[in-house]
Amino acid sequence: MDYPVKEINYGKDVEKRYRTAFGTAYPYAASFPPEIPAIAIKAFTKEGDVVLEPFSGRGTTALEALLLDRKVVANDLSKVAFTYTHSRTNAPNLRDVFEKIRELETTIKENPADPKEWPVLAIMYHKDTLKEILTIRRELMYKYDAVSMFIKAMTMSILHGKKVLSIDMPRHIPLNLTSLARKIKRTGELPPYRPTIEILEKTINDKTKSGYPYPKKGIALNYDARKLGEAIEKESIDFVVTSPPYIDLMRYGEKTWIQQWFIGSSYVEYDEKTTEEIGSTSGNEEIYFKTMREICQVIYDLLKPDAYAVFIVGSSKKDEDILRIPKLFAKNMEKVGFKIDAIYARKFDSQFRRTLDKDKRDDEGIQYTDGWIVAKKGDPEKRTLEDGLIDAEDTISLEEAIV
Ligand SMILES: C[S@@+](CC[C@H](N)C(=O)[O-])C[C@H]1O[C@@H](n2cnc3c(N)ncnc32)[C@H](O)[C@@H]1O
Repeated sequence: MDYPVKEINYGKDVEKRYRTAFGTAYPYAASFPPEIPAIAIKAFTKEGDVVLEPFSGRGTTALEALLLDRKVVANDLSKVAFTYTHSRTNAPNLRDVFEKIRELETTIKENPADPKEWPVLAIMYHKDTLKEILTIRRELMYKYDAVSMFIKAMTMSILHGKKVLSIDMPRHIPLNLTSLARKIKRTGELPPYRPTIEILEKTINDKTKSGYPYPKKGIALNYDARKLGEAIEKESIDFVVTSPPYIDLMRYGEKTWIQQWFIGSSYVEYDEKTTEEIGSTSGNEEIYFKTMREICQVIYDLLKPDAYAVFIVGSSKKDEDILRIPKLFAKNMEKVGFKIDAIYARKFDSQFRRTLDKDKRDDEGIQYTDGWIVAKKGDPEKRTLEDGLIDAEDTISLEEAIV
C-alpha cells in the first residue's frame, strides 16, 4: 500500500474566492466546501465535459460543474440530497418561483392545513408557522417539476436553525425531538411565530445572489450508486469527483430527519439500508469496502477510457496512520482496474467543525483528515491535479467563470 502521498496546501484565500451564496444554501452534514470540486473540475476537465458525482449530497459538485460550464450528472440515494441536488441541476427561473410562492400564500389563507395533524412538532414550531409549513408540504409533496423541487429545497433549508422557522436550533443538523423537549424543559423557551412565506422569500433572494446557475441544466438522479449502470451509458463520463459516505460516521437519514419528513420520505428506511447493506454507518469495514468496490466498478465502466476520478475519502478512526481508510479505499479502486496516481492529504479544519458536533470529535480524540485519491482509467496525457491545486494563481473565481 505504498502510494505517493502529497500534501494539499491551498490557502484560505482560495476557499473564500470560491464561496457563492447558492453554494452553501443548504444545511447538509459532511458536505465538502465548493472549492474542492471546483479545483478538481478545473484541473481535470474542459468546458463541455461530462462530470459524474455519484454521492452528490447537497449538490456541491453539481453546482460547481454547471458554473464552470461542464455538463453534470449528480446522484444520491437520499431523497433529501436528491431534492437539494435537483434544485441545482434544474434551477428554475426565479420569476416562476415567486409566482408559485404567491399561489402557496393564497392557499395558506384559503385552505390551510391543520397543525393538529402533527402534534409532536408543536415543540419545534409555533402553531401558525406549523400550519404554513404543513400547507406547503401538502401542496408540494408529490410535485417534481423544477419550481416545486426548488421551493421544497429552500423550505427544507429553513426548517431549523437560528432565526428561521423553528425554535432556535443548530443549522447543520436538527436536534431530535427528545433533545428538543429536554432543552425546552430546561430553558422554558417556546417556539416563536415565524412568518414562513416572508422568510422563504428572503432566503431565496439572499441565496440566489451569487452562483445561481439558471438557465444551465444538469441531471439529478436518485439511485443506489451500485445501480448507476442502469441510468448512465457506459464510457460516457469524462470525470468523477466525489466524496463517498464516511465509514462509521454518519446516519445521513437521522441527521436530516426533519427534511425527510417534509418530503415524505422515511429516514429510518434509509438508515437501515446504509447500515445493513452499505455498511457506511455501522463501521463494518468488510461490508463498506465490498459495497464501495462494487460502486467503483460501476464508475469505472461509466468513465471514458482516458478519464480521471478523484475520490475524497474521509478518515474518522483513531488510526495511527490517518490515511489508512483512504489507502484501503485506493486499494479497492485498484482491484476494479483503476490506476492510482497519488493520494493527497488534507486536514479538516473549520469546515468540518461546522458540520459535526464538536464534543463527539473531542471526546474520541478523532483526527479528521481527508485523502484525495487521484485515480485514472487508462493512461491519458491530461493535466494533473498538482497543476490545479498547488498553483493557486491558476485558479479563477466563480464570478469569472460565469459568463
Ligand atoms: C460525504 S456525503 C457527500 C457530500 C457531498 N460531497 C456534498 O458536498 O454535499 C456522502 C453521500 O453519499 C450518499 N450515499 C450513501 N450511500 C449511497 C449509495 N449507496 N448510493 C448513492 N448515494 C449514497 C449519502 O446519502 C450522502 O449524501
